[in-house]
Amino acid sequence: MELDPREIDPYPYLSGIVTPRPIAWITTVSAAGVVNLAPYSFFNVFGDNPAIVVFSANLKPDGTKKDTLLNVESGGEFVINASVARLAEAVNLTSKGLPHDESEVPLAGLTLTPSVRVNVPRVAESPAHLECVVREVKAYGTHAGAPNLVIGEVVWMQIADAALTDGLPDPRKLQTLGRMGGTFWCDSSRGLFEQARPG
Ligand SMILES: Cc1cc2nc3c(=O)[nH]c(=O)nc-3n(C[C@H](O)[C@H](O)[C@H](O)COP(=O)(O)O)c2cc1C
Repeated sequence: MELDPREIDPYPYLSGIVTPRPIAWITTVSAAGVVNLAPYSFFNVFGDNPAIVVFSANLKPDGTKKDTLLNVESGGEFVINASVARLAEAVNLTSKGLPHDESEVPLAGLTLTPSVRVNVPRVAESPAHLECVVREVKAYGTHAGAPNLVIGEVVWMQIADAALTDGLPDPRKLQTLGRMGGTFWCDSSRGLFEQARPG
């Protein structure tokens, strides 16, 4: 099959081919002080000097901005909480589109703990955290689904001792999650598994 991404909806193909994708589980704080938490798999690390991460928050079907995007624009900071196998259900649950003034943190039964370098808190249950400041936000249109690339610099890193071997992250202990196409996810012990998005 050959496909022109401008002629069809390329999403199922792009998100099925570019796999597994890491999942940034992102905390931000709104202008009113509400802590937001949501997963973003259009995400990766793109440099280490400086330490640059990028994720994309697509505009909602009505063309408005997701809470994470609103908050990084107003607050200029975010925290990437590692999304790991034992938290898979909670990660999925926090993709629920709650109103801007409601936090996903209690919904998923999670707790917050302060960060070191930014004013955005960490998810305590997550074993690793990247504290980030926003370098740039690049919008690709104002239509539904338009990508907004958030480019951030990591200013502090934390990883639980239990996830280390000889002082370095050990994938057998950290067990990060990957997003595959459709409803498929993966992790290193289960391989592929399915989780439908919460209604
Ligand atoms: C595993 C997973 C990955 C996701 N990745 C993205 C993404 O990269 N970009 C995006 O705009 N939405 C993504 N979503 C959907 C958002 O999480 C969802 O729209 C959420 O409600 C946004 O929350 P917010 O408005 O609190 O930022 C993803 C959902 C899941 C379950």
